[in-house]
Amino acid sequence: MQLPTPPEDAARLPRHLAIVMDGNGRWAERRHRPRSFGHREGQKALRATVEFCLRRGIGSLTLFAFSSENWKRPAGEVGALMQLFLKALDNEVEELHGHGVRIEFIGDLAAFSPELRERMEKAMQRTAGNRALNANVAVNYGGAWDIARAARLAAQAAQQGQIDAGSIDEHSLAPYFCLAAQPPVDLFLRTGGEQRISNFLLWQIAYAELVFIDTLWPDVDAGVLQGALDEFARRERRFGMTSAQVAASA
Ligand code: FPP
Repeated sequence: MQLPTPPEDAARLPRHLAIVMDGNGRWAERRHRPRSFGHREGQKALRATVEFCLRRGIGSLTLFAFSSENWKRPAGEVGALMQLFLKALDNEVEELHGHGVRIEFIGDLAAFSPELRERMEKAMQRTAGNRALNANVAVNYGGAWDIARAARLAAQAAQQGQIDAGSIDEHSLAPYFCLAAQPPVDLFLRTGGEQRISNFLLWQIAYAELVFIDTLWPDVDAGVLQGALDEFARRERRFGMTSAQVAASA
């Protein structure tokens, strides 16, 4: 990894990039290799993505590594993914820490093996003080789960008299969501040609720009990511206003 350089045009850069890293399986099948080979190759694209975000000064990156629905995959593929996560936690955390990356896992971690959970906790603790990049990894995560969890936490706070249940609105509910301390997602990118959210971040993408590209995840490199940023920079983000209002406020 190289040292990060400041962004050229911070105003047109997403502060928070979220990615559905889709296409590993098809990438491998096209090469007559097992799907797990595609996931291993996908890890290289992931490294390139972290490096790209550091270099471009994107503050938050959220990656969909394992959805709450991915348990339905063949046991062999799920097992291979778990091994890959374990290995990545053993081999990558120190280098990421050296680059100032703060790692956060979001999702229902209780479903994972004790050794995986322990390594995830350790990685979060080790990197907690870092500021160069928030790298959030969604594992056993679902956007609907996140909404239900936020509602449950708010209900508990109301029961304990910390908040007034009758006054809960989108502002008072917001702190109970995963990633509440980070900016909302500006750019949602999905690789692999499908045009779906697939129960990834729901609340956090309320005003995100959605970009879908055909490139399979293992083929993603800095050029592909720059293409997504260029598309983002071309979009007019109105946040409910008119074009004239946006132009006047620029
Ligand atoms: C979706 O492609 C990808 C996944 C379910 C796993 C993503 C995992 C990685 C990129 C590996 C590295 C991750 C970490 C955190 C070390 P798919 O299998 O659905 O592909 P397909 O649509 O072609 O079948």
